Amino acid sequence: MNNPLSGSTNSLGRTVLVTGTDTDVGKTYATAALAVAGWCAGRRRIAVYKPQQTGMHGDDPGDVHDVARLARAAGMPPEALTTVEGQRLTEPMAPPPAAAIDGVELLAISAHVAKILELQESHDLVLVEGSGGVLVELDGDRHTIADLAVALQGVAPWGTVDQWPMNQGTAPVRQADAADGRVGTPDTTGPAPVSTVLVARPDLGTLNHTLLSLEALLHRGVAVAGVVLGSWPGEPDRVQESNREYLADLPAIQGNHIPLLGAVPTGWGSQAG
Ligand SMILES: Nc1ncnc2c1ncn2[C@@H]1O[C@H](COP(=O)(O)OP(=O)(O)OP(=O)(O)O)[C@@H](O)[C@H]1O
Ligand SMILES: [Mg+2]
Repeated sequence: MNNPLSGSTNSLGRTVLVTGTDTDVGKTYATAALAVAGWCAGRRRIAVYKPQQTGMHGDDPGDVHDVARLARAAGMPPEALTTVEGQRLTEPMAPPPAAAIDGVELLAISAHVAKILELQESHDLVLVEGSGGVLVELDGDRHTIADLAVALQGVAPWGTVDQWPMNQGTAPVRQADAADGRVGTPDTTGPAPVSTVLVARPDLGTLNHTLLSLEALLHRGVAVAGVVLGSWPGEPDRVQESNREYLADLPAIQGNHIPLLGAVPTGWGSQAG
């Protein structure tokens, strides 16, 4: 199995939100690689949810289709993956103006929460790929992927995020899973039940974008599992190497040590065509 994010295994809660420092940074590739990491760690039913898919007409293949293609190319059985879109908009823009052009109402954050909780019922891992970067508005009410993360953290069936020390990197075993899957005293040695991964570029400028995005997430109470480099070239230049080294040993941000979970090699999954 071609599993570039094997280092993320201990950070995979039941639900993982995937956001980025920008659009086009490799969130879809990272989502596919996280699905593969989950599969390799024993998750057998994995769902990918894209709350807002913009820039798509008719049956155009969207990001969840790409995740399925990439995961299959890495060796994951297609039947292990469920792919769901919340809402599809035709314009390649942020959701509010795209919805205005299409003349439709955007789904509320509560509708996305309900959908994700429904997927949690029947899956071992739910991956949620946001639109664009951290502070892009998802609904018509100024809510972002950070608000969606915080809302999910508040209703996680295994307790609130306060019970999970962030980023301790211990074994993903939860007492609640061993019992009836929903109740019991949480074993807080496992990963947070809902966590967020930030996907970044390795290129010049990424340190500022990554640190700003992490600050924004942590400031809003989001449980950040770590950073992933969305596309890591086969022959990195000095800037990219130096950025990777820096991101692998970030200074504490608001008391949080945010790890670099790994990097998706450029061209990963290309064998699928
Ligand atoms: N690991 C990779 N290998 C090869 N190409 C990649 C990789 N990561 C990203 N790319 C390239 O960058 C483009 C953007 O990647 P991706 O679609 O994953 O970004 P995104 O952050 O999900 O974008 P969006 O904001 O549109 O959802 C891809 O179409 C692909 O061309
Ligand atoms: Mg994408």
